[in-house]
Amino acid sequence: MSERVVLVTGAARGIGAATVRTLVARGDRVIAVDELPLGSEHRDHEQVAGCVADVRDRAALAGAVDLALDRWGRLDAAVAAAAVIAGGRPLWETPEADLDLLWDVDVKGVWNTAAVAVPALLAGPDPSGARFVAVASAAAHHGLHHLAAYNAAKHAVVGLVKGLAADLVGTGVTACAVSPGSTRTPMLDATAALYGLPDVETFAENQLLRRLLDPDEVAATIAFCCSREAAAVNGSVVHADGGFAP
Ligand SMILES: NC(=O)c1ccc[n+]([C@@H]2O[C@H](COP(=O)([O-])OP(=O)(O)OC[C@H]3O[C@@H](n4cnc5c(N)ncnc54)[C@H](O)[C@@H]3O)[C@@H](O)[C@H]2O)c1
Repeated sequence: MSERVVLVTGAARGIGAATVRTLVARGDRVIAVDELPLGSEHRDHEQVAGCVADVRDRAALAGAVDLALDRWGRLDAAVAAAAVIAGGRPLWETPEADLDLLWDVDVKGVWNTAAVAVPALLAGPDPSGARFVAVASAAAHHGLHHLAAYNAAKHAVVGLVKGLAADLVGTGVTACAVSPGSTRTPMLDATAALYGLPDVETFAENQLLRRLLDPDEVAATIAFCCSREAAAVNGSVVHADGGFAP
C-alpha cells in the first residue's frame, strides 16, 4: 500500500467513483466525499473512508479533511469532482436559480474543497508531492449551446486553478484541472435529457474518438494528476476529452 492519502469529492458515482477505484487499486487511501452515500463497491473498503457532505458546506468539507488526518495522519492530494449540470435553454431564458446553483456547487464547491484541503497539503509530510486537481469540462473551453451557465461555471474552475497555482508558488504543492469530454455517467444522461435527446450516444460525434469515454479512462488521467510524478502539470489543464471538437 502507498503512503498517500487522497480526498475525492463527487465520489459516490460517475467519474468521482471511478477515481476512487483507480486510486485504491494503486494502493492509495481515499476520503470519499459526496452528498449521497457511497455505493457497495467502496462502502466497507478498508482503504476508503466515506464522508457524507455537501461541497457547498465548507465546515462539512473541513470535517472530511479532519477525517483524513485523524485516520491516516496526512493528506497528499485532493480531487474536486462534485458538480451538477443545469441548462437546456438559451442564456436569456435561463432562470437565475440555475446560475446560482452552478456557481454554488460547481465553482464554490471546488473553491471550498481547495480552501480546506490546501492547508493540510501544505502542512503534510511531503508538500512537494502534494496535488490539488479540479475536474473542469470541455465546457470550460468551448461554448456549448444551451449550457451558458455551466460554461461560465466551468471556465471559472479553470481560472480558480490558475489563481491557486500562482498562490502556491514556492510551496511544492501544485494545482491543475482535468477537462473530461462526454463520459458515460448519470450527468451525461442528465445532459441528454436537457437537450431532449432519447439517449447519450449522439455525444460521441463531438469527439475525435467517435465514442463516449468510460469514467475509468478519465479517472486514469485524474489519478496521474494526483501523483508525485505530476508536478509538471501545474496551473494548467489536461484535456481528457477524446479530442473534443463541437
Ligand atoms: N460526464 C461527463 O460527460 C462530463 C463531462 C465533462 C465534465 N464532467 C465533470 O466531471 C465531474 C464528475 O461528473 P460525473 O459525470 O461523474 O457526474 P455524476 O452526476 O455522475 O456524479 C457527480 C457526483 O457529484 C455529487 N454531487 C453533486 N452535487 C454535490 C454536492 N453539492 N455536494 C457533494 N456532492 C455532490 C453527486 O451526488 C454525484 O455522486 C463533474 O465535475 C462534471 O462537471 C463530466
